[in-house]
Amino acid sequence: MKNTYITTAIPYANANPHLGHAMDYLLADVLRRYMLQQGKTVRLQAGTDEHGSKIFKKAAEQNIPIKDFVDKNSHSFQDFIHSLDVEYTDFIRTTDADHERRCQEIWHKLEDHIYKSKYEGWYCEGCEGFVTDKEYTENKGECPDHRKAYIKLSEENYYLRIADFKDDIREAIESDKLKITPTFRKKEFLNLLKDMPDVSISRPREQVEWGIPVPGDDAQVMYVWIDALSNYITVLGYPDQDISDDWPADTQIVGKDILRFHAGIWPAMLLGLGLPLPKNLLAHGFITVNGEKMSKTIGNVINPAEIIEKHGVVPFRYYFLRHASTTDDSDFTWDKYEAAYNELANDLGNLVQRLATLCKKNQIAGTKGELLSDAEFDDCMNKYEFNFAFDVLWRKIQDLNKRIDEEKPWALAKTDPAMAKAVLVKLVKDLLDINTRLAIFIPETAQRISEVFEASEITPPATPLFPKA
Ligand code: MSP
Repeated sequence: MKNTYITTAIPYANANPHLGHAMDYLLADVLRRYMLQQGKTVRLQAGTDEHGSKIFKKAAEQNIPIKDFVDKNSHSFQDFIHSLDVEYTDFIRTTDADHERRCQEIWHKLEDHIYKSKYEGWYCEGCEGFVTDKEYTENKGECPDHRKAYIKLSEENYYLRIADFKDDIREAIESDKLKITPTFRKKEFLNLLKDMPDVSISRPREQVEWGIPVPGDDAQVMYVWIDALSNYITVLGYPDQDISDDWPADTQIVGKDILRFHAGIWPAMLLGLGLPLPKNLLAHGFITVNGEKMSKTIGNVINPAEIIEKHGVVPFRYYFLRHASTTDDSDFTWDKYEAAYNELANDLGNLVQRLATLCKKNQIAGTKGELLSDAEFDDCMNKYEFNFAFDVLWRKIQDLNKRIDEEKPWALAKTDPAMAKAVLVKLVKDLLDINTRLAIFIPETAQRISEVFEASEITPPATPLFPKA
């Protein structure tokens, strides 16, 4: 049986991870754990994008040898992913020798669709992207993402003839063979595809020295996107190995800003290579801080480690998986974060403490949770509405709290001990059933809940799950 293959965007190794980078990993991890529960074998790739002039310049600015610079940043991304309680099966760096060689072979295989031409136009150094005249005018000459003026370029480049594949790409996206979630982004992209020009896939070496050489032309290096996008298959061993156990990817997770590369250039490359297209592209929204885009200029970039340090990783996962939308932009503020922490403590922490205390008093033995079918939950998961799936669980948790209040097992224990026991046994069983799915979102907490309520004798945790300051 084919493995489920989930991919994440590979961040530029030009700095430490910032808050926005967490989204790719959390969503991928939720999907991974969900698929594992369904008995699937899952492959989850992560990695770092390490070539290009931006990275090269940053290293030079900081006076660090380029290789040391990317090593340091790549490692900090690996540590970051672990700190989110996210597990990947494969980590790829675009400076890996295997990747570089495989990329050159990919280029070679695409040669029928590659031509050389002169580029004259606008370019954003921040995006490492070419900018159409229309975009230039619309954005008044400045990149809205990087708040940096576009620069004028005039140089010889190799181009990938997107025109060769446009109709096939359109057909695949329109028919959902390559399904883009959310639908409004699919529509947005189909509009963009209409005027999508052929794309430049190389830069002169004199402009960008830190890159994979174009095979057969020493004066040119690959432009980052060809190099970066290839990672999804070079990590599987392509073209040295048969990748059909993993490829096509089931879900490729990207931020909204890079959807167009994944829905345009990437399918063109795959079609040129004769490989099947991924089944799903999931474009998530952006995290803002106090309603503003995070930016070094504004000085509001939050280091995710700072948030994790505050109350641990569980509230972090809880906030960004339940209170952040899977597909739309979402805001972070410390106030909202504290409110979310209180919810965790009040709804879940209290429930565990209270129920375990009652169980101990009434000598209730632990039991096991079951993965029960839940159509509403599955429906949300299948639509990639992970935050709504989490809501489904949370409502059930709140219902358990209500049931305790209403059924008052402590009062029942005085009048009808057998009935009190039955009520508690049922509450424990229901909590453990919910807990099997909670493990997808907040595995560490789910583990603790299992330890408490699956033990032969239920005893409340020595410290509450979410202690108040
Ligand atoms: N190197 C490219 C991706 C190549 S994939 C073949 C790149 N790197 S990035 O570091 O700029 O972004 C990495 C991921 O983080 C992307 O999915 C991007 O959308 C995401 N995010 C960057 N800032 C973000 C937020 N503020 N919020 C949510 N996601 C954000 O693009």
